[in-house]
Amino acid sequence: MTQMKYAEVEERILGGTTARRGDVVITRGEGSWVFDEQGKKYLDLGSAQGVAMLGHCHPRVVEAISRQAETLTLCPNYLYNDTRAEFSQALVNVLPRHLPHLFLANSGAEAVDGALKFARLFTTRPAFVATTKGFHGRTIGALSVTWEPKYRDGFLPLLETTHVQFNDAAALDRAITDRTAAVILEVVQGESGVNVGTPDFLQSAQRLCRERGALLIVDEIQTGFGRTGKWFAVEHSGIEPDLMCLAKGLGGGFPMGAFAYTKAIRDVLTQGAHGSTFGGSPIACAAGLAAIKVYQDEGLIKRSAVLGAHLRNTLRSALEDVAAVRDIRGLGLMIAVELRTKVAPVLKSLMLNHGVIALPAGPTVLRLLPPLVITEHEIDFGVQAIAKAIKDED
Ligand SMILES: Cc1ncc(COP(=O)(O)O)c(C=O)c1O
Repeated sequence: MTQMKYAEVEERILGGTTARRGDVVITRGEGSWVFDEQGKKYLDLGSAQGVAMLGHCHPRVVEAISRQAETLTLCPNYLYNDTRAEFSQALVNVLPRHLPHLFLANSGAEAVDGALKFARLFTTRPAFVATTKGFHGRTIGALSVTWEPKYRDGFLPLLETTHVQFNDAAALDRAITDRTAAVILEVVQGESGVNVGTPDFLQSAQRLCRERGALLIVDEIQTGFGRTGKWFAVEHSGIEPDLMCLAKGLGGGFPMGAFAYTKAIRDVLTQGAHGSTFGGSPIACAAGLAAIKVYQDEGLIKRSAVLGAHLRNTLRSALEDVAAVRDIRGLGLMIAVELRTKVAPVLKSLMLNHGVIALPAGPTVLRLLPPLVITEHEIDFGVQAIAKAIKDED
């Protein structure tokens, strides 16, 4: 098939839900770069939706997947498996110590759904409290706690959920009742614009949950694995959630989700309370195990903090006199450039004219989630391109 043919086939068969930014067909990835069929390269400052934290096709993850594919690809959960055990132990070792138990799933939304189920089981309560602008995925459970009306409309009724203003502790206080199974939140909201939770809000959420018998679920699907300059974003405020949802950076690029939970929750679980055919497959676990070793061996968590500061500073210098820029914010390598104008034309021009891929977060925010292996040189190239694309559209 030719480049145009690939685009035509995808549009005809898969085009029902996705608006694409141009007829670009990506066929290969390496490090911070992806390549189209003609060999044109693009700096991927979105890490394929925040997943390629180790860059594309990290050799150690590729090697681990290949070796596992030749050894054992499938092992159902009613049998033990060496790779799954090694991965589970390695993951628990980097998680907060009060979360020693895991459920292994295949995606972020699946991890959120499982965490919501466990909260209901533990508390025997039906309802949830979530935050305005929070995003947790598109399955019915995850969508219930997601805020954005355009994702929810057409799918109602969903699970009983009260959405409170993000960073408003008094609103949380009013919303948590004896019907609340759990409060779910992101420490840094990703999809809606890189909004950083205040320590007061996060600590109030934990305190109110403890006082009222509800659980606290933190969604670290986008923020986990060094994205914010710490292994997990909860470390910035010291909160200790009862359940933590993981995906994106977990599998080193391989599709994988998980949630971690406390011993108290483990104690109420019964055999068969939850399950997944594909969750915890040996290949996903081999990829995840290799990924954890790469985060550790290459010092990527620290690197995210250092390079994140460099990226924010470079953006501020390059964009300081650009009227279209309202704000630059973020934590680690999770950064937003908020515009006074629509972001969609900037993203299109950035990709097609300047060879750089970035993400939107709402209508006016350009979101950067670069791979943690990105170099300073690549960051500087990306920032120059962003400055040109914003100025072109100004
Ligand atoms: C914070 C957060 N939660 C949940 C999800 C849903 O993950 P998935 O798309 O793997 O279902 C996402 C995806 O972007 C996310 O950013």
